[in-house]
Amino acid sequence: MESFDRIAIFATNFIPDFTMQVSPSLLSADFAHLSDDIEMINSSEADMLHLDVMDGVFVPNISFGFPIIKSVSKICEKPLDAHLMIVEPQKWVTQLRDLGVRIMNVHLEACNHLHRTIYQIREAGMEAGVTINPATPVMMLQDIICDVDLVLIMSVNPGFGGQSFIDHSVKKVRELRKLIDMSGSKAKIQVDGGVNAETGRLLAEAGADCLVAGSYVFNAKDPHDAISTLKHL
Ligand code: DX5
Ligand code: ZN
Repeated sequence: MESFDRIAIFATNFIPDFTMQVSPSLLSADFAHLSDDIEMINSSEADMLHLDVMDGVFVPNISFGFPIIKSVSKICEKPLDAHLMIVEPQKWVTQLRDLGVRIMNVHLEACNHLHRTIYQIREAGMEAGVTINPATPVMMLQDIICDVDLVLIMSVNPGFGGQSFIDHSVKKVRELRKLIDMSGSKAKIQVDGGVNAETGRLLAEAGADCLVAGSYVFNAKDPHDAISTLKHL
């Protein structure tokens, strides 16, 4: 329905009532001064805070885990959006819920029983997201699209901040928008990796609902401004 509205809006040139959601990625924050960065997020137009959890197995890097999430959760006033780049994410559903995570994103490539994991997440009271890597086709989501609250399209290979945007991701967002509209799913489309004002605009036009941005926000001279730019593309 939403994208229908969007088509009508473009056609008639009205001011769109659609606003992009923005989820700054904590991975690019200054870990020696995390509370300053969380304060910045609290006072910004960000809709949520993206937490990249990496295990050194599913991705070739290790980031942070429960102790950091616990501390962040105490002071962050925005919903926590956890992106789990780990094997067997189903093991940690209740712990993440108890730490205050609102959205739990699991990789399709990391789940042997994705449908079961999605329902574990929803039954725990969180929103359930499924994430796909750049080499995973959108069609792989066909039989799960009506069960998820969110699809996260990776526009870089997961594991590191500051990588270049993979152009092919724009086409994937378009395909996913079609799949969502045709299936009647209510899933939102989130995109993560190499997002800046330029790539963000392409993603917005393709039908993305939410942009994750790490280096574009935290390396900016004015992070509030960078968040606002993505919010009002
Ligand atoms: C990469 C992470 C991203 C990362 C994005 O594996 O999932 O969330 O922080 O960083 P940028 O925006 O710098 O590409
Ligand atoms: Zn991420």
